[in-house]
Amino acid sequence: MELVRFMNQSISLISSWVLRRAAELKISDHIKQYGGPMPLHELARSIPIPPEKDLMLLQLMELLVHQGVYAKCEAGYLLTPTSELLLTEGSNMGTFVSFITEAFTGTWFFTGKWFKDTGAGTGFELAHNGKQIWDVLKENPELGSLFNEAMASQSKESVRDLVASYPEIFYGINNLVDVGGGTGTTVKIIADTFPELRCTVFDLPSVVANALNSDSFSVVGGDMFHKIPPADAILLKNVLHDWPDEDCVRILERCKEAVQSTEKNGKVIVVDMVLDAEVNDSKETETKLLFNLLVISSVHGKERTKKEWHDLIIRAGYSDYKIYPARMSLYSVIELYP
Ligand SMILES: C[S@@+](CC[C@H](N)C(=O)[O-])C[C@H]1O[C@@H](n2cnc3c(N)ncnc32)[C@H](O)[C@@H]1O
Repeated sequence: MELVRFMNQSISLISSWVLRRAAELKISDHIKQYGGPMPLHELARSIPIPPEKDLMLLQLMELLVHQGVYAKCEAGYLLTPTSELLLTEGSNMGTFVSFITEAFTGTWFFTGKWFKDTGAGTGFELAHNGKQIWDVLKENPELGSLFNEAMASQSKESVRDLVASYPEIFYGINNLVDVGGGTGTTVKIIADTFPELRCTVFDLPSVVANALNSDSFSVVGGDMFHKIPPADAILLKNVLHDWPDEDCVRILERCKEAVQSTEKNGKVIVVDMVLDAEVNDSKETETKLLFNLLVISSVHGKERTKKEWHDLIIRAGYSDYKIYPARMSLYSVIELYP
């Protein structure tokens, strides 16, 4: 058993790449268009791939069926809720696995050197001549777009979950700014769900230059370390885990100023991981541990425990806060009161 576990873990990088290839070959779209269980030869010809590659496709599908990504009956392959995430007209999560494998495979190559290095940079920076990820994304428009698409895809899934699971966090506020909100996927879903709420997406100018074209929210470019537009509520979703404590304190101070300048009882809503929050299963725990390694190796951030969140919030000068009981997977909701 130990040998199986060891061998499995040694070759499991193939799992990420198989998922990426399934996304790029648009296997979920082909199965959906087929409209029923799809035999391998039909899938192969509709992608299309040359017949001599059918064996590889078969083995790829065998693994994905074993992992529960696709289902299989005698007549062929079927979608499952997991492979539906790859549908390009759905949340298109293929962009997420493509970005992760594209951007961070090199980082992990360098973490061996990084462990011995006495410098303050991350593994990602060691792999990119000292450049921070935000500069690399700006200088490589293709990778930058893939990053924005990946963030938008995962936002589509998690924000739908957020508005359904925690509607009360949006009650009683007139306007909201989504800080580090990317190209606006999150605010669009919030604004469409709560049409009375005036929403703004705020991100780096190079990012909001590609913001979605929509009448339902406004767009502001800027730097969250300097000034954040005033609002009753500031949303920080998946942002603070990218930064070390000192920077998080600065961001939270700017958020507090933005909320207080409306002269109302505003709040900051943080949606991020809480490492010791309740989890549904061991897969969720493992996913959080993997994300923590990802952010530590690529940016200067980390995922945080309840105690670490407490210390950060108090250091930034907030009078109180509330961590909501878990109602969605992976992410927790924390409300901060000035
Ligand atoms: C991990 S992404 C999260 C995106 C989005 N909130 C989500 O949940 O999908 C972090 C975001 O912070 C933005 N960001 C980084 N530095 C920033 C800065 N100084 N000012 C404003 N936004 C910044 C990035 O461009 C990126 O869109």
